[in-house]
Amino acid sequence: MKGNLGWLWFNLMYIRRPPWDTRVSPPELHRFLENHPAGNALDLGCGTGTNLITMASYGWQVAGVEYAWRAVLIARGRLNRAGVNGKVWTGDVTVMPQVRERFDLVLDMGCYHSIPSHRRVAYRANLNRWLAPGGTYLLYAHCLAAGTSVGISEAEVDAFSPLFSLRERQDGFENEQRRSVWLRFERV
Ligand SMILES: C[S@@+](CC[C@H](N)C(=O)[O-])C[C@H]1O[C@@H](n2cnc3c(N)ncnc32)[C@H](O)[C@@H]1O
Repeated sequence: MKGNLGWLWFNLMYIRRPPWDTRVSPPELHRFLENHPAGNALDLGCGTGTNLITMASYGWQVAGVEYAWRAVLIARGRLNRAGVNGKVWTGDVTVMPQVRERFDLVLDMGCYHSIPSHRRVAYRANLNRWLAPGGTYLLYAHCLAAGTSVGISEAEVDAFSPLFSLRERQDGFENEQRRSVWLRFERV
């Protein structure tokens, strides 16, 4: 998806509730939170804030970045109602110079795979900037399939090394159709 086209598409999708906005965090995230001490977390492409609220319920200090304006409004409202003192920045995860903190956990559920390929270098540079030494990068993405441009390739998975060590990988299928993967990296 080309940059602005992606932005437009996601903004239109949030006029109604998009299919991915289930308001339920996946077991993979719960498992991580159950097994790691709380710290501060950044959710890239946080949508309507479901995973921010989940992480906060485990004691994490949370922040999110999201470029679909309606999703940001909904996320802020939901955080407010849940009594979560988190931050939701409006903007593109490949830009965001105003995000200057470092985080123990950077979560990305479904954002990376829709970033246009020419912006992925900038995404990685930001990830380097934001993830604290020893921190975790938890990524859920669609795998690149023949004839599509939305997905992560095996070469890209490898390219996270040597700065990031792959600690866990779980391959699966979304809706029993599309190949997908959970990746847990640790910053060296
Ligand atoms: C598939 S949705 C997943 C949303 C959320 N992570 C969840 O699990 O409900 C992907 C999200 O990433 C956001 N997104 C995609 N590209 C982005 C970018 N470059 N900067 C900020 N947000 C982006 C979309 O607007 C959308 O909310």
